[in-house]
Amino acid sequence: MIVLKDADKLYKGDGFETKAMDHVNLEINNGEFVAVMGKSGSGKSTLLNVIGCMDRLTGGTYILDDTDVSDLGILKLDKLRKQKISFIFQNYELMDHYTIYENIELPLMANGIGSGQRKTKVQEVMERLSIAELKRKYPKQISGGEQQRTAIARALVSGNDYILADEPTGALDEENSGELMKIFKDIHKDGKTIIMVTHDKDIASYADRIIEIKDGKVS
Ligand SMILES: Nc1ncnc2c1ncn2[C@@H]1O[C@H](COP(=O)(O)OP(=O)(O)OP(=O)(O)O)[C@@H](O)[C@H]1O
Ligand SMILES: [Mg+2]
Repeated sequence: MIVLKDADKLYKGDGFETKAMDHVNLEINNGEFVAVMGKSGSGKSTLLNVIGCMDRLTGGTYILDDTDVSDLGILKLDKLRKQKISFIFQNYELMDHYTIYENIELPLMANGIGSGQRKTKVQEVMERLSIAELKRKYPKQISGGEQQRTAIARALVSGNDYILADEPTGALDEENSGELMKIFKDIHKDGKTIIMVTHDKDIASYADRIIEIKDGKVS
């Protein structure tokens, strides 16, 4: 479960001060499928990054499954993230010099899973996402939709409980977006918690709940 209490994120630099999160109070239960909507610059990515333990609050508290994340040092935060969180980025962020197979294997390597188990898990998730035949190709040699499915496979392979996606359909056509939402519905049925940032009302309608953000505030 995710609990944010009076959560603030202030970006301060030379000549600017931006409140990207402004006293956010939010609870997300295990197994929920939530869409986050709001204008450009409203703080959606910031919220996702904080929830995903990629970034820290500057005020208030964040509790993830009974762990007070606000208190954790960088190493512990890193460990927690690897155990619990999987990210799907808008631009996929696949590693160009690794094959599709190796890209999907990376999170398992990071979690110290042995090679036999890695092979089984990667194969399984590739088949589920219909990309098994791409395994020896490199990201630049596959289509946008296939890259997206690779990014999802990489997020699913570790079996982490929280799947966070920032504009996952941003670069996809209607057909591929629909396919992606079917996969998300499937993941949701498996009991995963999904938090998805989107600009698209049709895409957001697949979620159980829509969270609106305006100027760093949840409305
Ligand atoms: N690293 C940073 N340093 C300073 N300001 C930042 C930083 N990251 C984000 N911001 C500011 O925080 C606010 C929220 O940014 P954020 O990226 O969360 O918006 P967003 O809702 O994801 O927008 P978009 O829909 O365009 O992706 C913006 O005003 C932005 O300029
Ligand atoms: Mg953003």
